[in-house]
Amino acid sequence: MSIFSKVTQAVVQFVPDRDRDQLSEEHRIVGKPIDRLDGPQKVTGAASFTADFPLEALVYASLAFSTVAKGKIRKIDASEAEKSSGVLSVITHKNAPKMKDPPLFSPSSGTDAAASTANVVNTDEIYWNGQAIAVVIADTLDGAEHAASLIKIEYDEEPAALSFEAAKSQAETPKNIMGEDTEVERGDTEKVLAQAKYKVDHVYSTPRFNHNAIELHATTAAWNGDQLTVYDTSQFVRGVADSLAKMFSLKKENVRVLAPFVGGGFGGKGSMWGHVQLCVLAAKVVGKPVKLVLTREGVFRTVGGRTPSEQRVALAADETGKLTALIHTGTTASSFANDFAEQFSFPARHLYATESLYLTQKLVRLNTTPNTFMRAPGESIGTFALESAMDELAYELGIDPVELRLRNDPDQDPAKHTEFSSRHFKEAYRLGAEKFGWQNRPAQPRSMRDGKWLVGQGVGTAFYPAYRFPAAARVRLNADGTAVIQSSAQEMGMGTATVQTQHAAERLGLPLEKIRFEYGDTNLPQAPVAGGSNQTVSIALAVQQACEKLHRELLKSAKQDQNSPLSGSHFDEVRACDGGLFRRDKPETGETYVEILSRLKQDFVEAESETGPPLETMKYSMGSYGAQFCEIRVNEQTGETRVSRWVGSFDTGRILNPKTAVSQFRGGIIMGIGMALTEETFFDERTGRIVNPSLAEYHLPVNADIPKIEAYFLDIPDPHTPLGAHGIGEIGITGCAAAVANAIYHATGKRIRELPITLDKLL
Ligand code: MOS
Repeated sequence: MSIFSKVTQAVVQFVPDRDRDQLSEEHRIVGKPIDRLDGPQKVTGAASFTADFPLEALVYASLAFSTVAKGKIRKIDASEAEKSSGVLSVITHKNAPKMKDPPLFSPSSGTDAAASTANVVNTDEIYWNGQAIAVVIADTLDGAEHAASLIKIEYDEEPAALSFEAAKSQAETPKNIMGEDTEVERGDTEKVLAQAKYKVDHVYSTPRFNHNAIELHATTAAWNGDQLTVYDTSQFVRGVADSLAKMFSLKKENVRVLAPFVGGGFGGKGSMWGHVQLCVLAAKVVGKPVKLVLTREGVFRTVGGRTPSEQRVALAADETGKLTALIHTGTTASSFANDFAEQFSFPARHLYATESLYLTQKLVRLNTTPNTFMRAPGESIGTFALESAMDELAYELGIDPVELRLRNDPDQDPAKHTEFSSRHFKEAYRLGAEKFGWQNRPAQPRSMRDGKWLVGQGVGTAFYPAYRFPAAARVRLNADGTAVIQSSAQEMGMGTATVQTQHAAERLGLPLEKIRFEYGDTNLPQAPVAGGSNQTVSIALAVQQACEKLHRELLKSAKQDQNSPLSGSHFDEVRACDGGLFRRDKPETGETYVEILSRLKQDFVEAESETGPPLETMKYSMGSYGAQFCEIRVNEQTGETRVSRWVGSFDTGRILNPKTAVSQFRGGIIMGIGMALTEETFFDERTGRIVNPSLAEYHLPVNADIPKIEAYFLDIPDPHTPLGAHGIGEIGITGCAAAVANAIYHATGKRIRELPITLDKLL
C-alpha cells in the first residue's frame, strides 16, 4: 500500500523475490478445512464478549444524543437526571474533565485510531444529529437509560450542510486517496469518447449504509491508579490503547485493551468511536469500572457507516470490445469531524487494459456521523458503477459480458504500469462461468420467464487489493512440546484464530492441538488493525520470521553440542516436522523440541519478530480478483426481486482453510445482496436525523432472502506473499451489486443505476 512509500529507512525484512515462502507448497495442516477452533466456545455460550466480563462493583453508562445537526449547546440542565434513583454522575461539557483531542485514524501512524476529531463532552459544538452530548452513570442500566432521558438541552442551532446534492457544487478534490494520487490520467479520454462508435456514459449512485454487526459496540473500562484496563469490541485493540493513552495523557504501557471475541465488525469497529473515550472518562469520574453498551439506535447515532456516492463511468471501445477510454469519476461525502474519501476509483486502476484512462474523486462535507470503512470501502461501491457500465457496454457492442471482461484483461497494471504479483482473472471467470452454466444464458433481455417471474442472469467482477501491514508476533516453545503464538490480533468471526493456529502448526512441525494462539490483548506483540483484509498475511509473516529466528537459535545451540544429531546442520538443511527439527536429506536425523529443550535444560524458548513495511506492494500490483454470477427473479406485477442462485469464483492466492474461506466469501456475498436490494440508511435532509435506526427498518438480508451460495476459488499461491495467501475478508462483497443490477436488466430490460434496487424502481 502506498501509504508506506515514504518509508525509506525501515528494516527490510521481506524481500519480494528472494523470500518465496517454502510453506506456500506445504499441505499438511495449512489448506485443510479445519473447523473453527473457537466454534464450540461460541455455540455453548462459553466465549466472553466485551459486555460479558463481570468486573467487581461494575456500574452502567448511557448516552444522550444531540437532536440537532449543527450548532452549540446553549443550555444543558441535568438536575433531574442527577436526582434520579441510582445515578452516580451525569457528565456534560460543563463538568467533564479535559481530554486531549482524539488522534484521527491514520494508517501511516500505525496506531492513531479515533474515528472522529469531535472531542465529545469536552465541547459544546455539535457536528451531527446524534452526536453524544452527555453520559449518565448509574448503578443499573435501566437507571442510567432513564436518567439520560431526563436531561434537558437547548441549542443555538445553525444552518447545517445536509443535502449531498446541494453540497456537490462545493466538492473538493482531496490531496490523495488512501495515500494514492487522487487523479490518474493517461491520454485524452474525453476526445476518444467523443469519437468512439461504441460507448456508454452514465451516472450511478449509492446510498448510505450502516454495518450492523450482531454484537453492539461495547466498552468496559476500569482504572487502577494510572493503569487503565479496557474491554472493547474492536478490530484494532492496539489503536484503541494508543489513542486512549494520548487522550488521557497516559504511558502507552499503562493502557491495556482486550477484545478476546468480537461479534462482527465489517469495518465499523476498525476505529475508536466516541463512546470508548466516554466510557473511560466515566470510569475515571465515578472511580468504578463502567460498562457502556450502545443500543442499536446508539450505534446508528454515533457510529458512522458507508458514505453516499455519485459516480460517473464512461467507457468507449472498438468493435472488438477493446477499451479505448475508461473514465471513472465522482463524489462521496465525509463529515466535519473526519476526513475519509472512500476509494471508489480503485478498482478501475487495476482491472482493465485501456488505451486512455481518467480517474478522479471529489469529496463534500456534511453534518453527518463521520463516515467510515465498511467492508471493501470503495471497491464495493466502485465495482457497482464500473461493472454496471461494463455490462451496458457489452450490450452496446453485442458481446457477451464475460467475453468483454476477458478481452480487456491487462498484461500489467493499467494505472501503475507495474507487473502483477499474481493475477488469474481469466481463470476465475472461466471457473465461475462453468460452475454457473453461463454458456446456456440467452443474450437477449426479457427472454427467460417462469410464470409471473421474469428471470435474469448477471455477472460482475470482484476486486480487492492485497495489503500487508507491519506486525509483530512471538513464538514460544515449551519443554512439554507445546507452543504458544502471540500477537495482539483480533478475531471477529473470520477464522483468524483457526488459520493462524494452522499456520503455526505447519511452520513449527507440530500437531494442531499442541499450538495455542493468543490474541485480542495489547499486552501481546503488536498487530495492525484487522482491516483492509490484511491481517492474515501480516501476522503470518511475523510468525514466520519469529519461527525462523527461533529455529536458527536452536541450531546455533545444537552446533555447540556434540551430542546433538543436528550439530553442524545449517538452517537450510533442516525442516520443522514431527514435533522438532529434522535434516532434509536424512529425515530420521534430528531432534524433537522436547529433546532440544531437555538438552538445553530450559522450560521454554521464545523469539519475537516485527516485520517491516510491505515493499512487495510497492514493487508489484497486488490484488485479488473474482467473478460474481447470479440469477434473479423479478415479479412482473409487484417488482419483488428474489435472488435464486449465486456462484462466486475467486483468485485470492492460496486458500489457507477452505471452510473458513468459503464462509468469508459467502458472508461478503450476502452483504452484497443486502447492498443491492434492501439496505439503506434513511437520512432526513431537513434535520440530519437517521430515521431508520433499527433492524426493523434497516433490512439486512435474512435466511429467506438468500439462496444457496456457491463459492469457488483457484487456490493458486502468490509467490510474493507469506504462505502465498491474500486476505479474503472483503472481496466477497465486491461486484455483487453490479451482478444483481445486471441480472435485473437481463430479466426486465430495466437498467437501474441507483442502489438499493427496491421494487418501486422496477414498476
Ligand atoms: Mo475492512 S471495512 O477495511 O474492515
